Amino acid sequence: MEKFDVYPLYDIHPVKGLGAKLWDDEGQEYLDLYGGHAVISIGHSHPHFIKQLKNQLDDLAFYSNSVQNRKQEELAHLLGHVSQAEDYRMFMCSTGAEAIENALKVASFQTGRNKIVAMERAFHGRTSGAVAITDNPKIMSPFNAGHEVVFVPLNDHEALTEAVDDQTAAVIIEGLQGVAGIYEPSSEFLLHAQSCCKASRALLILDEVQSGVGRTGNFFAFQKTQVQPDIITLAKGIGNGFPVAMVLVAPHIQAWHGMLGTTFGGNHLACVAAMSVLEIIEKEQLMKNAQEMGQFLKEALQQLTEVEEVRGTGLMLGVQMAFPVADLRKRMLMDHHVFLGSSAEPHTFRLLPPLNITREDLDYFLLQLKLSLEKS
Ligand SMILES: Cc1ncc(COP(=O)(O)O)c(C=O)c1O
Repeated sequence: MEKFDVYPLYDIHPVKGLGAKLWDDEGQEYLDLYGGHAVISIGHSHPHFIKQLKNQLDDLAFYSNSVQNRKQEELAHLLGHVSQAEDYRMFMCSTGAEAIENALKVASFQTGRNKIVAMERAFHGRTSGAVAITDNPKIMSPFNAGHEVVFVPLNDHEALTEAVDDQTAAVIIEGLQGVAGIYEPSSEFLLHAQSCCKASRALLILDEVQSGVGRTGNFFAFQKTQVQPDIITLAKGIGNGFPVAMVLVAPHIQAWHGMLGTTFGGNHLACVAAMSVLEIIEKEQLMKNAQEMGQFLKEALQQLTEVEEVRGTGLMLGVQMAFPVADLRKRMLMDHHVFLGSSAEPHTFRLLPPLNITREDLDYFLLQLKLSLEKS
């Protein structure tokens, strides 16, 4: 059998990781400022993460959601504490798109409606509902196109007011638009979205799959404001590479048996992976580090003449250059051995390093970037 060939691949074979470093099968070292699509939060092969997962594997790797699993309660308690979202209830699944599907489903059950208002340039995943609210016709099959979705420009108050009506189940906004190229919803826009939703009895969903888990310096990117979403989605960094995702549901929404479900979500290993991520975020003060390193990086990048704009907060940055960045990214990877992220905006690369990245690693990146720009 051969692989179904859907990914354009760099010819690199990583075999080992530690912190923000990767090594390939020939021993070449790489600096990872992308974390495999923003997944690596506490660094590759963090010793606490490894130890906890190994211990759990010795006891029990998996049982389904038909029996009690104390690990889920422990995790919910810890997550409430670290994220300061104690009032919410947690449903666990395994991928970001699955979290989005379930969030849409909860909103639709709760309101009895099916229209979703999403943002232009949004990315929410590739399953049926998630891709329907993703603003990219190229990845939407005819089967996915049957949902009722209205897109409005991010931060456009008037367009949002007009779009949200008594047919609307939910408004969904990324805490910080990632795949688009890092575009930030303003605090005013988030608060406006909340009041539009309240007025129309629709729900507000904050997609924190990429921007959550401390990446912006707050646990959730929306915590820069007083906004209180009805539903929050989480994935990527919460498992640091182990497939863990979550839907966090506000107290006014009732659960009922059979409303949602999954085979793998919330298994023992997944709970332990997420708990060890949260423990490290708290113990090593990684949100503070994300804030400080992000600020340093942003200011340093803004000094470069080739850089037009640096968008984002903390360690979720979009660097817009004066030229398309595909070649630069390739050179940085193949010649300078630094992983950078792409984005839908051709002039912008994304920086999504582990939250425990050091000043030394960032200095090395800045040096390599300058060398690469000099050569071009
Ligand atoms: C904001 C956002 N939501 C949802 C998803 C989908 O997550 P997954 O690829 O785990 O299904 C992504 C993935 O990049 C994302 O960035």
